[in-house]
Amino acid sequence: MREGAWRTALAPPQGGHGPSGPADLADRVRALGPWFHNLRLGDLQTAPDHALGDHPADKLRRIAPILPEDLRGCSVLDIGCNAGFWSFEMERRGAARVLGIDHDPRYLAQARLAAGVLGSGAEFRQMEVWDIADLGERFDLVLFLGVLYHLRHPLLALDLIRDAVCAERLLFQTHTRGGARVPPVAEDIPFAFDGPLPDPDHPALFFVERAYGGDWTNWWLPNPAGAEAMLRAAGFAIEARTEDVWLCRTAPVPFAEWGLRPLAPIRRNAEEGR
Ligand SMILES: C[S@@+](CC[C@H](N)C(=O)[O-])C[C@H]1O[C@@H](n2cnc3c(N)ncnc32)[C@H](O)[C@@H]1O
Repeated sequence: MREGAWRTALAPPQGGHGPSGPADLADRVRALGPWFHNLRLGDLQTAPDHALGDHPADKLRRIAPILPEDLRGCSVLDIGCNAGFWSFEMERRGAARVLGIDHDPRYLAQARLAAGVLGSGAEFRQMEVWDIADLGERFDLVLFLGVLYHLRHPLLALDLIRDAVCAERLLFQTHTRGGARVPPVAEDIPFAFDGPLPDPDHPALFFVERAYGGDWTNWWLPNPAGAEAMLRAAGFAIEARTEDVWLCRTAPVPFAEWGLRPLAPIRRNAEEGR
């Protein structure tokens, strides 16, 4: 996008917070594109030609059975909120406070425009997942959808979420590759074992050094067993799964005394900053 067009898109519309009319809104939606979320803003769709179909509305329909239906009075943190589709949906389910964070200001500009049009009270803030301890706040429900595989340090992110912001429930989604089976967890893998791991569905993360799907921000692709193992290792009990989405509840963190040591400097920095 041209620099000039970007500035125009970010400039507040004349005469108030919302767009001044359908033509103006269409211009602003276009100027803020491309969109990853196909939102309905009045008669407009923000990404009608999305490669994944009507995304994420189709996904929402498919995973609805495991989504908390009634969120009245709850607080929700949406990490990697993009243009806010899931934040708006949580608000629609009754959440009293919704905070969406993303490190990409272009997506946040989309989310803020959409919030203005939809009359949403959701708040959107530019923030790295690595800085969530700075929030100094725990949320009843944390959404961590479609972000894990974009991170160089995925388990650290789950540890941080468990340690700093998740009070009760986590809704988690990740792209997965490899075997679909989730075998029972081996208590111990013998050190002397020689050859491939005992089971191709053993919890695994595939490392991407260059790019995956043309996107260099993809670093790790877990198989489903790997995703579940990481959730448990970070202190989340899995309550339900559908497709590549898991609903979890906080649980004791295994080997916490050792495993959470990398968080100590992050905790210290966050406390000093408050
Ligand atoms: C594949 S999109 C998923 C969007 C949305 N959560 C969903 O499931 O529809 C990944 C989003 O995570 C954001 N993201 C990636 N790395 C991040 C990080 N380190 N901190 C905050 N946001 C991040 C991207 O900017 C993008 O909006």
